[in-house]
Amino acid sequence: MKTILASASLCFGILFMCVSFSTTGSSQIQVVGQTGPVVAKEGDDIILPCSLVPKGSVEDTIVEWTRSDLNTNKKVHLYKDGKDTVGDQIPGYMTRTSLFKEEMKTGNISLKLSGVKLSDTGNYTCRLPKENSQGTETTIRLIVDATTFLNIFRNDLIWNVTKVMPIVNGLLETGLIQKKVKSMISTAGTHQDQMRQLFQALDEGDVEMKSAFYSLLCKHEPDLTGKLDAVDFVNSTRDDLIQKVTNVTLIADRLLQKGLILEEVYSGISTAESSQDQMILLFHALDEGGSEVKSAFYRILLEHQPVLVQDLGGLLRNNRKLEQKIKDLQGGVFPWSRWEVAVLIICLLALLAVG
Ligand SMILES: *[C@@H]1O[C@H](CO)[C@@H](O)[C@H](O)[C@H]1NC(C)=O
Ligand SMILES: *[C@@H]1O[C@H](CO)[C@@H](O)[C@H](O)[C@H]1NC(C)=O
Ligand SMILES: *[C@@H]1O[C@H](CO)[C@@H](O)[C@H](O)[C@H]1NC(C)=O
Ligand SMILES: *[C@@H]1O[C@H](CO)[C@@H](O)[C@H](O)[C@H]1NC(C)=O
Ligand SMILES: *[C@@H]1O[C@H](CO)[C@@H](O)[C@H](O)[C@H]1NC(C)=O
Repeated sequence: MKTILASASLCFGILFMCVSFSTTGSSQIQVVGQTGPVVAKEGDDIILPCSLVPKGSVEDTIVEWTRSDLNTNKKVHLYKDGKDTVGDQIPGYMTRTSLFKEEMKTGNISLKLSGVKLSDTGNYTCRLPKENSQGTETTIRLIVDATTFLNIFRNDLIWNVTKVMPIVNGLLETGLIQKKVKSMISTAGTHQDQMRQLFQALDEGDVEMKSAFYSLLCKHEPDLTGKLDAVDFVNSTRDDLIQKVTNVTLIADRLLQKGLILEEVYSGISTAESSQDQMILLFHALDEGGSEVKSAFYRILLEHQPVLVQDLGGLLRNNRKLEQKIKDLQGGVFPWSRWEVAVLIICLLALLAVG
């Protein structure tokens, strides 16, 4: 009993030393970003600026990028123990973020984000979590232009948005539309008329207003937005999908079961020579079928080739079950960091020595 207690306290002693060593650092460091927002178009590769003053290497510290406007403990990007760490990452950012490793030697911890999506609009905080003093974090706003999305889906939005007033109120609260526009919209007869009025205001509005509208749409009409995002994804990755979808017959089979494609389309697909030919035929049917069929295709693809969807930047929602599935498919990552392994080994040695 005594030996166990002794070794336990030795263990904690060592742990405590490790922890205090790694938290002592200079406290004069400041983290600076940019005051104005970064504005981007869908699909762009962008840089969110962040660096240390005075310049200094951050290769041995923890660098953390988070979304302060999302309710999650997961990270946009985490650099720890001298390398990027994906275990704790928000799934939608997987494979899309990186730091400039060479520039980190001079304190540049800017984040590169590729293939920007509308849902990336938000507030990004860059932080050195081990520096407890003030000024070691900064927040940068990213605004992704929703103009194209609003143009492509104008009719879908006019016909299918019913929560018009909550969205309008959201815009009013942030000062993005005027009271008189709100009262004009609220007196329109139908949801469709309300949406037409709102579109008039949006057409005259700036990038900020349009992206705020998109965010409010996600909040108040999640199913509709999810569907439209799926359609957008399928449409914009057409060429990649034609090359990379492996089991087209299986997808066509599921669409047939749901009554979303015709029997003759299905038999055409099942007799086509290559999977590319099959996909070209399937896309004809998807284009004719419209958003209902395209979003159904997306859901089936997500189920059967989630890694492909992720690689093409198509993970649209946080989804824990899917996250696990992708991890399993990629061959589970060893869950412990080098630090934790080192501490464990030290503890084991201590136990042996005491015992
Ligand atoms: C993002 O930051 C801006 C100012 O930088 C602030 O006005 C806005 O409310 C923030 N958004 C969220 C969702 O926290
Ligand atoms: C950080 O590195 C990036 C990529 O090279 C560069 O675009 C950016 O200007 C650098 N920022 C600073 C403050 O040096
Ligand atoms: C919107 O409504 C129209 C008409 O009811 C329908 O044809 C269309 O599929 C709907 N769009 C979406 C994305 O649900
Ligand atoms: C799909 O993409 C084509 C261009 O490839 C574009 O003209 C069309 O508007 C897009 N449709 C939708 C619904 O995104
Ligand atoms: C496609 O899926 C079906 C049904 O799951 C399966 O029987 C078939 O072997 C798959 N084909 C390929 C090429 O993976």
